[in-house]
Amino acid sequence: MDIYEWILFTIGWIIIASAGVAGLSAAPWVPTRKKEMKLLLKNLDVKPGNKIYELGCGTGSIVIALAKANPQAQFFGYEISILPYLIAKFRSVRHKNVNICYKNLFTQSLSNADIVICFLLIKAYDRLAKKFAKELKLGAIVIAEGWPFENISPKTVLEADKTLPFFIYKGEDFKV
Ligand SMILES: C[S@@+](CC[C@H](N)C(=O)[O-])C[C@H]1O[C@@H](n2cnc3c(N)ncnc32)[C@H](O)[C@@H]1O
Repeated sequence: MDIYEWILFTIGWIIIASAGVAGLSAAPWVPTRKKEMKLLLKNLDVKPGNKIYELGCGTGSIVIALAKANPQAQFFGYEISILPYLIAKFRSVRHKNVNICYKNLFTQSLSNADIVICFLLIKAYDRLAKKFAKELKLGAIVIAEGWPFENISPKTVLEADKTLPFFIYKGEDFKV
């Protein structure tokens, strides 16, 4: 192998390793589908000045679609898998109200969030629920795609034909 092949090989392994770490941490990258995105766009009430966080934003599809529809709100996506992060970062360049960060979602403070969106595995929920209880404003909205939090009743469930459901909570629901 020459030096360039070594560099490519190393970069390839770093990308694969970061995807592995993300999968072990909270979830692997599985894109939110268009039909779920449409459902969320249709039903989510975003106010001017709101701060919306996606924890594990993947390639940024949700934050970018919502940001286009709500130019007066600010959107933040957090991602630790290198390839989806780079794609999301690149896609966000044209959108002034989108900020994509290479950051572990468990270390990002949520105290300023008005809306938090996540599509993560249930294994991450215990840790996440404790974080929500500590950091979220009472009136903040939490949207969990796919699966509900155990023992916490959602305020609403958004669902349409053959979509994954979105479970909607308030910050206050986690303060028990
Ligand atoms: C199911 S995917 C969400 C996909 C996203 N909605 C989209 O449409 O592209 C979950 C994402 O969370 C990321 N992730 C997992 N653990 C993380 C962590 N600790 N910090 C930040 N992101 C994480 C994964 O890399 C993955 O991209």
